[in-house]
Amino acid sequence: MKALLQALAAEGPAAESDAALARSLDPARLPAHIAVIMDGNGRWARRRGLPRVAGHKAGIQPVRTTVETCAQCGVGVLTLYAFSVENWKRPRAEVSTLWSLLRVYLRAELEEMQRQSIRFTAIGRLHDLPAQVRDELFSVIEATASNRGMQLNLAINYGGRAELVDAVKALVKDGAQIDEAAISARLYTAGMPDPDLLIRTSGEMRVSNFLLWQIAYAELYVTETLWPDFTRGELLRALLDYQKRHRRFGGISESPRRVQPGVLASTLPAP
Ligand code: FPP
Repeated sequence: MKALLQALAAEGPAAESDAALARSLDPARLPAHIAVIMDGNGRWARRRGLPRVAGHKAGIQPVRTTVETCAQCGVGVLTLYAFSVENWKRPRAEVSTLWSLLRVYLRAELEEMQRQSIRFTAIGRLHDLPAQVRDELFSVIEATASNRGMQLNLAINYGGRAELVDAVKALVKDGAQIDEAAISARLYTAGMPDPDLLIRTSGEMRVSNFLLWQIAYAELYVTETLWPDFTRGELLRALLDYQKRHRRFGGISESPRRVQPGVLASTLPAP
């Protein structure tokens, strides 16, 4: 959080509204894991009379901003849903643009990931990806493997049901005793904390086959904002909203959570 406040201060008066939001956050109660369904690229493009791929291109900047801000806040894991197993149904040209954008992104961001000590990982049926994409992914995974900062986890050719099928196959193969820990240990996300916060842009009230097991107790934040328009300010508002929630995990909460000593969450500025 200190890193974010410093970066915002360096930006000066233009960043003052984001700085005010950041100061309202309780650094001790940030989500350990944030998962994001980046939706609305196509609609963003359509509203501008542009081809859908223009929306995907415009979706890269908010990826950068979100990664940088989460890393500066001290979030442990950020999982971004970049390509689902269902996305193969899209026109071939759109799918191949998504692969080239991913490769461009990985090449362009490696240096920044190293600077911020980000550890890059990917989840999904990675063996079914085009060879060039797979090679690029694995080279960034390897190059950042010993970094100790935030884990940036990209869900690519990912499906929650496919992940559960793969986990069940592994359980059967291992002849393991079946309990929740045995299943969690065989998911692609083994070793990561479950997401505390799931953000979805573009207003759709669906989970779209994303981290089905892992989001059992996640807090949901759905915004009408289309992904290319998603800003640092909106991310900070999602974090503030998260800190207002009373997480009960099926139990009962004893008293309203406080965001800062002496400041009740409900008195914070509305998004
Ligand atoms: C959903 O919008 C978005 C995707 C399927 C792809 C996400 C890709 C990016 C954000 C760009 C690049 C990302 C990286 C990590 C380099 P949609 O096309 O379904 O939008 P619509 O619902 O409005 O049609």
